[in-house]
Amino acid sequence: MKPVSRVLWLGCVLVFCFQVLVPCGLPGVCGLDNGLAMTPTMGWLHWERFMCNVNCQEEPDSCISEKLFLQIAEIMASDGWKDVGYEYICIDDCWMAPERDSKGRLQADPKRFPGGIRRLANYVHSKGLKLGIYADVGNKTCAGFPGSFGYYDIDAQTFADWGVDLLKFDGCYCDSIQHLAEGYKQMSLALNRTGRSIVYSCEWPLYMWPIFKPNYTEIREYCNHWRNFADIYDSWQSIRNTLDWTSSNQKIIVPVAGPGGWNDPDMLVIGNFGLSRDQQITQMALWAIMAAPLLMSNDLRHISPEAKALLQDKDVIAINQDRLGRQGYRLRKENNFEVWERPLLNLAWAVAIVNLQEIGGPRSYTISVTSLGRGLACNPDCLITELLPEKRKLGFYEWTSSLKTQINPTGTVLLRLERTSSVQFSYSAVSDSL
Ligand code: GLA
Repeated sequence: MKPVSRVLWLGCVLVFCFQVLVPCGLPGVCGLDNGLAMTPTMGWLHWERFMCNVNCQEEPDSCISEKLFLQIAEIMASDGWKDVGYEYICIDDCWMAPERDSKGRLQADPKRFPGGIRRLANYVHSKGLKLGIYADVGNKTCAGFPGSFGYYDIDAQTFADWGVDLLKFDGCYCDSIQHLAEGYKQMSLALNRTGRSIVYSCEWPLYMWPIFKPNYTEIREYCNHWRNFADIYDSWQSIRNTLDWTSSNQKIIVPVAGPGGWNDPDMLVIGNFGLSRDQQITQMALWAIMAAPLLMSNDLRHISPEAKALLQDKDVIAINQDRLGRQGYRLRKENNFEVWERPLLNLAWAVAIVNLQEIGGPRSYTISVTSLGRGLACNPDCLITELLPEKRKLGFYEWTSSLKTQINPTGTVLLRLERTSSVQFSYSAVSDSL
């Protein structure tokens, strides 16, 4: 080969490798190349609502058994959940038998999952849904079942053989930070080697933070989403803590989120016991702004029509699933109000205004639209639609107008702003100026 054509050939190979192996969103932030989670994962995960209830004798309807997942899958397919995008039905901890089988493979508890995971996966697939499962990078799962340390390839292959479509990989009982990082990477590679498309949900940064600041660029190369912060509880305090952590760390975590890799603020607890109507609205609105995986943990067999309508709200889901794939951030905090915003496709913006005051009645908040969307959301004018708590068109706003809202205590007003005329704008400005 002549030197020039060799250079050309090498150049082509490098360009090819770069394009095929390194899908990059923001410059320098490359994602796991498994083609999955191009928008945040949507589905259902058992943990917050059903935890580690293994007592099927006394509580046959709420213990962790194949019956629970068969019933939830059936409802997800028939009650409109699948139609709006909830696709993954995910098993969390406590599905395993206490020991591996004679070949070293994980096995489901035979009493609670008599048909095994393979049969459950077949049923879930027959409903047009996908199945998620749970394992742990260390020696034991958080609830004390067998861990995957030393078994990453065997476990990845077992999950692929069963037809699993998502793995939540926890980080309990890992003896060193090196084993933690290596384990998360090795499991990612092992899943890829199976050739099956398996969404990889990590808790890697959550277990790193107490020791040192996680390397998010690296985490994004291996995981489709990652938990950063403590487990969610069915309480307003827990929602607030999660939002506070997210906004306090937004400079670090917002720029890394994008198609293929998302920050995971944990499950939606809407439809349970601990949140008021306004607080449920706040969770739904803010999870949309944060481009969070929407993994409900509730009992879809017994859910109020209001909670169902909120979780199935197509306009709010459209913000969560927006194809631009940019996570929103907190713009302002004043007088116990917070304003969050998120850039959307076609120069549109989502804006959430939260009233954090827990005393008194609804309070009004007035904002000049000039300050929204980096000064461009309403330049020269925009159409504003309120999505939550009510769905209504608020009308046209000029660049110099003010928008007045009334917000219940611990509630949120979620707005969508559409530009009425377009100007050139580079979204890199958004992450640069965070
Ligand atoms: C950890 C995780 C939770 C859940 C439990 C299960 O606490 O963060 O989401 O998976 O383990 O034991």
